[in-house]
Amino acid sequence: MCGIVGYVGDKKAQDFLISGLKRLEYRGYDSAGIVTVSEKGKATLIRAKGKIAELEKKLAKNKRDDNVGIGHTRWATHGEPSEKNAHPHQAGSIYLVHNGIIENYKELKAELKEHDFKSETDTEVLAALINSFYKDGKHPLVNAVVQALKLVKGTYGIAVVSVLEPSELVVARSGSPLVIGVGHNETLVASDASALVGHTKRAIYLNDGEVALLTKNSIEIKTLNAEPVSAKVEEIETNLAAIQKGGYDHFLLKEIMEQPDSLRETLRGRVNAENGTVRLGGPGLSEAELRKIKHLIIVGCGTAYHAGLLAGYYIEKFTPEITIETVIASEYRYRDAYIPKDSVALIVSQSGETADTLACLREIKKQGIPTIGIVNAIGSTIAREVDGGTYVHVGPEISVASTKAFTSQVIAMVMFGLTIAQAKGVKSSILAPYIKEIAGLPEEIRKVLDGSVETVKKIAKDYAKYDHAIYLGRDAAYPAAMEGALKLKEVSYTDANAYAFGELKHGPLALVDDRFFEVALVPDGVLLEKSVSNVQEVLARGGHMIVVTNSDEFDLPVENVVKITTSMKLFAPLLMNLVMQLLAYYITVDKGYNVDQPRNLAKSVTVE
Ligand code: AGP
Repeated sequence: MCGIVGYVGDKKAQDFLISGLKRLEYRGYDSAGIVTVSEKGKATLIRAKGKIAELEKKLAKNKRDDNVGIGHTRWATHGEPSEKNAHPHQAGSIYLVHNGIIENYKELKAELKEHDFKSETDTEVLAALINSFYKDGKHPLVNAVVQALKLVKGTYGIAVVSVLEPSELVVARSGSPLVIGVGHNETLVASDASALVGHTKRAIYLNDGEVALLTKNSIEIKTLNAEPVSAKVEEIETNLAAIQKGGYDHFLLKEIMEQPDSLRETLRGRVNAENGTVRLGGPGLSEAELRKIKHLIIVGCGTAYHAGLLAGYYIEKFTPEITIETVIASEYRYRDAYIPKDSVALIVSQSGETADTLACLREIKKQGIPTIGIVNAIGSTIAREVDGGTYVHVGPEISVASTKAFTSQVIAMVMFGLTIAQAKGVKSSILAPYIKEIAGLPEEIRKVLDGSVETVKKIAKDYAKYDHAIYLGRDAAYPAAMEGALKLKEVSYTDANAYAFGELKHGPLALVDDRFFEVALVPDGVLLEKSVSNVQEVLARGGHMIVVTNSDEFDLPVENVVKITTSMKLFAPLLMNLVMQLLAYYITVDKGYNVDQPRNLAKSVTVE
């Protein structure tokens, strides 16, 4: 979603602002802007609709040596994507960039009669409100910001500069992340630590309700109630290679192909294949607490939700006396669901910032239920607010479509299930096959990717012409099919839906005709015959089918079979998902769409 950058230091602010905004491009945006302020208090504001490249064209005619500035990539909420709605917004002597939503902007706007509003945004209302307290420099900027924020309802991450105080920045957050980079004779700000990589390794993550006054050599943090905060400086773990394409045409392909390594990072120090045990330090639950768990609620959105569904299928196979409910965060937050006291909630989010997931976390915590984060982004809001957690450690996921995070989220949750099962005394003969397969998965993933990438690339050409697709699977292959369909629709704009094989005859079979192609997941195992009969049903109606299978027995004359050769029995559906990731990627490349930044989507959805 929207991105924020800010700079105060000895160097040219414009350079950091543009490079920082480029790093945040992956989050999705539709316009961008920067403002810098000279020592003498002259502001240079540049804004453009569209990509950063448009902003750079304007910048070429407005190069400045100014050492202070703020920048923004906007993802439209209030008002269309346009130059006038792009941030920074000006009111009097101040300029403001803002992520989030000011919910009471209409009421506030009605009171701000002196300001001549030029945009349709809630952000300009906040700028005008701050300016009304600032009174053209009669009060310190930081005080004006605090007074304004006390009247605001909603969410914000903001950065403010004033032409009257050209050596400082003021930033604040409530519900929208902000990281302060601690440099040498410079202080940087970003809504996502990836913008700081290469500039500093030292960062302070601002908490909700905090405001900071930044100069090139000082960082003063207070709460809105003026209590001083002693900031903890943390290390940024991401390196430059992790946020570059590394020879691939797109981040999506890079992230699909790096899954052997990213999963290895998820497993590091947690799985002992030799003695058949799993050990997770992060959740922080004692053996006794683990034993008491009777109910798991898994909360997520989109891919994270699918990961929860898939993990749930596994966990219930080996953990006795436990019920699992995987829920969509945007629905669950408004449900009046009863949560039994012996529950634990798994909060699943790659970014750790998804607004609906965060809202569920807060609701569940209010009920006194322990919350465990399954999060990738280190230091993110969800990671900091959960009671305990297991980072998936897959490194930055830049492509909007989530791939490597999905695989690792599933396995991190299965490992959590295994720790519960161990504590409950489940026989090691039941758990050992899972642990053995998990330990071997990175290598199996490598084999499946290497073995199928060329085949999928070739067959994708035949399916790029379709506007509709049906994904099918049974048991654990059903949530895997759901994830496959989501991947295809979000990057290739093909209308794709997944159905449980057994549901075909209850409706979806009526769809099968030449407008559709079907992707069926047919894992070997006890349900093989049933899946094969379902494939036959589709075939008999003229279906255009791709079957992904690890079975040697599958011999129906479908259009294409992607055979994956693997020794894995339990996690075959997870391996099949890799094929679907590749299929979505290559169909999108064939269609010529923007693979890494699909239209209308953002990497992390920080508004409801
Ligand atoms: C995945 O490909 C999507 N772009 C999306 O569904 C994503 O998984 C969802 O928005 C949840 O994000 P999170 O994991 O950062 O919470």
